[in-house]
Amino acid sequence: MSIEALPAGEAARADGPVLQVDDLSVTFTRRGEAPTRAVDGVSFAVDAGETVGLVGESGCGKSVTSLAVMGLLPRRGVRVGGSVRFGGVELVGAPDRTLRDLRGADMAMVFQDPLSSLNPVVPIGTQVTEVLLEHRDVSRGEAADEATRLLDRVGIPDPGRRLKEYPHQLSGGMRQRALIAMALACSPRLLIADEPTTALDVTIQAQILELLRELVVDTGTALVMITHDLGVVAGLCDRVHVMYAGRIIESADRHDLFARPRHPYTGGLLASVPRLDGARGAPLTPIRGSARDTIPWAEGCAFAPRCDHAQDDCLTEVSGSTVPLEHDGPARELRCRHPLRRPPSATGATASGAAR
Ligand SMILES: Nc1ncnc2c1ncn2[C@@H]1O[C@H](COP(=O)(O)OP(=O)(O)O)[C@@H](O)[C@H]1O
Ligand code: SF4
Ligand SMILES: [Mg+2]
Repeated sequence: MSIEALPAGEAARADGPVLQVDDLSVTFTRRGEAPTRAVDGVSFAVDAGETVGLVGESGCGKSVTSLAVMGLLPRRGVRVGGSVRFGGVELVGAPDRTLRDLRGADMAMVFQDPLSSLNPVVPIGTQVTEVLLEHRDVSRGEAADEATRLLDRVGIPDPGRRLKEYPHQLSGGMRQRALIAMALACSPRLLIADEPTTALDVTIQAQILELLRELVVDTGTALVMITHDLGVVAGLCDRVHVMYAGRIIESADRHDLFARPRHPYTGGLLASVPRLDGARGAPLTPIRGSARDTIPWAEGCAFAPRCDHAQDDCLTEVSGSTVPLEHDGPARELRCRHPLRRPPSATGATASGAAR
């Protein structure tokens, strides 16, 4: 199955990256509670036809980053800093109207749980048609035809019948396809997929990822893939940003990241993923502790309590400054004082010893 080329949207035609995020921060300020910084100085860019992965354990700030990019965070109780430029247009602080016009028309998002994103009491066809009517200059009849075509394009069999069905009548995989069809309805220049396959079984997951890959190749859509699963990254992403406790701690091209992880956290993530080339029955090595075992970045490296390579200078009191994100060769950035020298061994153990 192949997706035909889609006409480009109105906005985001300027040269340069489709999406440019610079020093993005998100702070939750609930009354009576200390402010929580969920995203802290995150920067990345996505070109047309490129897939960029944001990876990290649950709670590291992936979803909050994507909601901030889409302008979907509530204004009350949330402070967003930094810059998000879409096709050269600044979105941080942009009027709600601007953001609403862009969403659906030029940038779209697919969430983990399609059921919660679809209206349970409205047939699938009506939901896809409504998106088309809202954002494209088409008649109701044309929109209905296009909805059928879209469902067919995302691999939903017998789309004419499916259009009349309600979300609960579709399987999880079909619901996710329907959601992707809605996202495609307006030929977005940017698609953010937040754990789109997490709730699906492995076979369906592979099909959905293939669908997204075809979309990027055939339409030049810029795709931000958000996942906790490095397996998803391996099959899809050109460039990967690994997040920990609200910050990017390693950025690299996908091949380089897998062949030569430099951050102990990235090494730990890789060591905890089953590998086809690994020794049979080789034990996987989960990262010790949980994401809750962090220290504030202001006190040093947030990963230090879980890091086998931590030394005294990983803590601010000793080093005098928090661990910065620095260039580590071309096209690679790293936030670590004692990076890994070697990739994880075939047995899944992390690289032993840190570069001194
Ligand atoms: N509405 C909110 N109010 C306060 N804290 C929040 C809110 N939403 C998310 N957070 C916090 O922000 C952090 C990042 O969350 P999230 O982006 O959802 O993580 P991920 O998607 O990586 O699993 C978490 O610590 C979470 O508890
Ligand atoms: S800065 Fe130190 S504690 Fe943090 S990941 Fe690197 S070695 Fe580990
Ligand atoms: Mg999330």
